[in-house]
Amino acid sequence: MALWGGRFTEGPDQRFKDFDDSLKFDYRLALEDIEGSRCWAQALCRALVLTREECDTLQQALDELAQEAASDLKAIAAAPDEDIHSYVERRLIEKVGVLGKKLHTGRSRNDQVALDLKLWTRHAAEDLEQALNALLARLADSAARYTKVYFPGYTHLQRAQPITFTHWILAYAQMFKRDLQRLKNARELLNTCPLGSGALAGTAYLIDREQLALDLGFTCATHNSLDAVSDRDYVMEMLSVASISMVHLSRLAEDLIFYNSGEARFVELSDQVTSGSSLMPQKKNPDTLELIRGKCGRVVGALTGMLVTCKGLPLAYDKDLQEDKERLFDALDTWRDCLLMAALVFEGLKVDEERTREAARGGYSNATELADYLVGKGIPFREAHEVVGKVVLYAISQHKPLEELTLEEFKGFSAVIEKDVYKRLDLETALDVRDVVGGTAPPQSAFEIAVLRDNYPLKKENEDSPSQL
Ligand code: ARG
Repeated sequence: MALWGGRFTEGPDQRFKDFDDSLKFDYRLALEDIEGSRCWAQALCRALVLTREECDTLQQALDELAQEAASDLKAIAAAPDEDIHSYVERRLIEKVGVLGKKLHTGRSRNDQVALDLKLWTRHAAEDLEQALNALLARLADSAARYTKVYFPGYTHLQRAQPITFTHWILAYAQMFKRDLQRLKNARELLNTCPLGSGALAGTAYLIDREQLALDLGFTCATHNSLDAVSDRDYVMEMLSVASISMVHLSRLAEDLIFYNSGEARFVELSDQVTSGSSLMPQKKNPDTLELIRGKCGRVVGALTGMLVTCKGLPLAYDKDLQEDKERLFDALDTWRDCLLMAALVFEGLKVDEERTREAARGGYSNATELADYLVGKGIPFREAHEVVGKVVLYAISQHKPLEELTLEEFKGFSAVIEKDVYKRLDLETALDVRDVVGGTAPPQSAFEIAVLRDNYPLKKENEDSPSQL
């Protein structure tokens, strides 16, 4: 049943209907649409458009509908209706007869869909917050395991300075903390209720929009009806938050893919998150991580697509806006899945401490320590840097790490170098001296882990995974 047959003498071409109908994806808004309808019935009752009795009957039928919908949301997608709003209205009329036809008084699908999607996004944001919390808890737990595991820190993919594996994990924890904050900030802007804006000019009935907003869990009503029915900023913003976080996840994935590679062999991924090759029996591929890295493109694509859809779109509602849903649903599902999978990767991760220690030591990653040592002996840093460059060049020609040069060899480059240089070139010392806020020294990591554990406690298995969006 279409909601708009009166003005038409012919039915739509089936091909147009297939092209135009949105129920196949907006069925996911069923519960939000029903909730909006419940509150709209109340608002109409307060405006004396419906009697108390009519309102009660409608609300009861809507409650039933909600229960039915919740039991199998997906089944709704197969119904013949144009969109979720038509579906809910048809089902309501089937339940309560002609009274169901009164509910759309003063309301348009334009303010209805604006409301439904905003409500859905609020729920999704809550689920995503949980997923980020769970990942942060997992990272804190992992970070605590590797405080003594030395690891090569890279710049330009060249071994640069030694760090701990913990320090590397904590770097990503910082990124996900910011993602969580961005999500909370975005959630703040989801606090205004568009219902009661009508098609574009506001509703002609005495609707108490502030009360309606409160009933629906918002803090206030939107303040311009044209804007309210055409605003999809929150979709763009959520996609942007998701995209940034996916970029973080893809960098995390890429780092681990490299660490897990046959060349590096620093870590081993668990069998739970890897797959084999149909041809080469020896292979264990990091599929989870590659998919996380790959899916980043999908989410960033959704953001780009949404921005382009809205660019130059005239006020107020245009059907172009129907293009908001599939990409929002898909991007947020993808983001959530990737957050959960990233947490799973850490659960079974093994680190080869021997190899990482060796690698942390190699590549002349203690050259900065030697420069700092010379600074300690009164040599200006720029000069010290120059001297150490020469020492490194010499050590390379001797195929030796710095700590294996003899004191005589060192003295050939600078007379101030004494026996205590060897202690300074130790891996442990290189870490211990970086005891500044945010540095790789173990006490700094311990502090960061404690902060994370306080804020993101690890939950038990079944508490861990957020409900379906
Ligand atoms: N399915 C539509 C959407 O997703 C609902 C709003 C339809 N409004 C209209 N004036 N045709 O945007």
